[in-house]
Amino acid sequence: MIKFNINDTPVEAEPGWTVLETARHYGIEIPTLCYHEAVMASGACRLCMVELRDGEWSKLVASCIYPVAQGINVYTESESIDNVRRWIFEMLLAEVPASPEIRDMARRYGVESTRFAIKNPYEDCIVCGLCARACEEIVGLAAISVMSRGVHKKIGSPFSKPTEVCVACGCCVTICPTGAMRRLIESVRETPEVTLTPLAV
Ligand code: SF4
Ligand code: SF4
Ligand code: FES
Repeated sequence: MIKFNINDTPVEAEPGWTVLETARHYGIEIPTLCYHEAVMASGACRLCMVELRDGEWSKLVASCIYPVAQGINVYTESESIDNVRRWIFEMLLAEVPASPEIRDMARRYGVESTRFAIKNPYEDCIVCGLCARACEEIVGLAAISVMSRGVHKKIGSPFSKPTEVCVACGCCVTICPTGAMRRLIESVRETPEVTLTPLAV
């Protein structure tokens, strides 16, 4: 077992666990968006940042992709963490103003407004790719994927055309942290009247 500390409390983890997995094992809360235990972590949203400290030295890392190591000191609450979470939530409020899920989550962490400019008041997708990874890794299909790069990145079906690959299982809808997939899925299916039956993931 690997022994280290979270918030000054000794914890033990299996080799290969991440800091987030260990924190969750011990019931320590770390907010996440692009992470789900059923699919590979991508480290896309950075909301799960924690602080590593060693004496005067410290750095922030994404806990969902940071592997545990013997003797490290991890903090899930600190001034630096508060600042980075506030900054990320403000960015999210500006990027996906049409997501009530993100607004609720930000509010739970004390963030109700943003200093950043809102570009698209209808946007609700953070392009975290969780839905596409779920479709590929859980369902075994690749009906949707992250397309384009940079500011043009978006989720969709190949060539933005209706696809017969989608079996309307609802896995992507269930796993989407912002609620965006609920709306997008209708355009992915050729027969949008199909009723989705979300999987318990
Ligand atoms: S639809 Fe949801 S899960 Fe998919 S990329 Fe957008 S926010 Fe992430
Ligand atoms: S509903 Fe379609 S796109 Fe979504 S996970 Fe299932 S097969 Fe993939
Ligand atoms: S939850 Fe870790 S980077 Fe998104």
